[in-house]
Amino acid sequence: MKYRILFVCLGNICRSPSAEAVLRHQASQRGLSVDVDSAGTGNWHVGQAPDSRAIAAAAARGIDMHSLRARQVSVADFNHSTHMFAMDQSNLADLMAMRPEGGIMPALFLGPATHTPPGEVPDPYYGGAQGFEHMLDLIEAASRGFLQTLN
Ligand code: 4NP
Repeated sequence: MKYRILFVCLGNICRSPSAEAVLRHQASQRGLSVDVDSAGTGNWHVGQAPDSRAIAAAAARGIDMHSLRARQVSVADFNHSTHMFAMDQSNLADLMAMRPEGGIMPALFLGPATHTPPGEVPDPYYGGAQGFEHMLDLIEAASRGFLQTLN
C-alpha cells in the first residue's frame, strides 16, 4: 500500500511544508516510498515558496525546501490522503469543519499516532529563528515516531 500523507497548517509556508520536507527526507533515508504533501487552511500565501526562515533552518539540517509551493487544502484531499495531520488545534478544528462524510479523519501531528506527547507545533511565523529550531525539533521527533508506525 502506498501511503499518501498530507500535513496541514494555517499558511502552508512554515510548519506544514517543513513537516513535508522532514518526513520525505527521513523516509528516503530509510528507503521507504511515501507520497508526502502539505497545504494550508488559509489562502494568503498560495503559490509562494516557504518562509525564508523555514528554508534556512531546514537547510542547516540538510533538508531542501526550495521547490515547495503553498496551496490551500481542499475537500478532495480528504478522499485522497491516507493520513492527514494538523499542526495545531485550530488547524484541526478547521479541517473537521470541512471534512466530507466518509473522508479521512484528520489528527494532530503531535500525539499518539507519532509516539509524541499530545500537543501543538506552535506557529513560528511571528517569532524569531529560535521558534523555527523548536518547530523542527518537534517535527523531526514526530516524523521519526510516525515512520515507526508504518513498518
Ligand atoms: P504556518 O505559519 O501556518 O506555519 O505556515 C503562518 C504563516 C503565515 C501566516 C500565519 C501562519 N499568516 O497569517 O500569513
